[in-house]
Amino acid sequence: MNVHAPALARAHEFDAQTQVFASDVIGGLSQFPKRLSPKYFYDAAGSELFEQITVLPEYYPTRTELGILRSRGDAIAGTFPEGAALVEFGAGASTKVRLLLERSGFGAYVPVDISGDFLKAQASGLRADFPDLDVYPVAADFTSSFALPDQVAGMPKVGFFPGSTLGNFEPQEARAFLRSARDILGRGAQMIVGVDLEKNERVLYDAYNDAAGVTARFNLNVLVRINRELGANFDVSAFMHRSIYNREQHRIEMHLIARKAQTVRILGRVFSFRPGESIHTESSYKYSLERFTDLVRGSGWSVRYSWTDQDRMFSVHALVASD
Ligand code: AVI
Repeated sequence: MNVHAPALARAHEFDAQTQVFASDVIGGLSQFPKRLSPKYFYDAAGSELFEQITVLPEYYPTRTELGILRSRGDAIAGTFPEGAALVEFGAGASTKVRLLLERSGFGAYVPVDISGDFLKAQASGLRADFPDLDVYPVAADFTSSFALPDQVAGMPKVGFFPGSTLGNFEPQEARAFLRSARDILGRGAQMIVGVDLEKNERVLYDAYNDAAGVTARFNLNVLVRINRELGANFDVSAFMHRSIYNREQHRIEMHLIARKAQTVRILGRVFSFRPGESIHTESSYKYSLERFTDLVRGSGWSVRYSWTDQDRMFSVHALVASD
């Protein structure tokens, strides 16, 4: 039985994706402590804010990973079989994948993303720049199982999961994702994964509490999205952004903190907030090379190579399927 059924009385008006969003929001805000999944940050405004985060002076992950992909690109590409299909889990700005496509003789590129419109735009840009490359976009939630296009059936597979998005999963979810990616890519597959590393806590803190307040707007935008898509009445100005580093759990936590006591209506349900009460909106796990190797072990892969920048801020790993 769906325990949220009464609250979702109006949900029949929604498309399937919005129904899942409604159910997740109501489920998450009914928990204690309250939580929301970080996957809901990325509506059009949230994706644009995330692009702004990636070029902030405090936010080192994107430029550091790009630096590794540029400086170690030949070694990374050297691990790929000729004519492979490159499958990107969650296709973001195409800057990173271009660095791989430029260096290797891929037979096809398969970007997988929940946003069909975004995929179409990205695919046409890549087709223009790589006229010999076959691009087969798949509109799917890459955290669930999906089928690869028939056209790549006979090709060796290389997965690509950059940006330390793996760090936004709880460790057991990260293992489940890696297992599912192994099943989708099949025997003999490889995978390139970008993973943020544990480091000085001040550096971590600043990266998620930037002076310009872009991360705060990114965090608060999820409430704007809930208001718009689910007809809720969050007073966004009554919440504030907070990011902390949780040393025991090796993770940055992002929270939205209620500035005062308040109630919020969402689809006929009322949620009460105490002053200072938090909604936990994101965890961003930071790994050591050892803890990442442990995570991968038992998930259908093993770590073949790891590359880091000079300051050991970020890591890129080549995994091979342990068939
Ligand atoms: C997408 N992800 C890896 C980012 C991170 O660093 O965890 C999302 C983000 N959250 C706040 N700033 C960036």
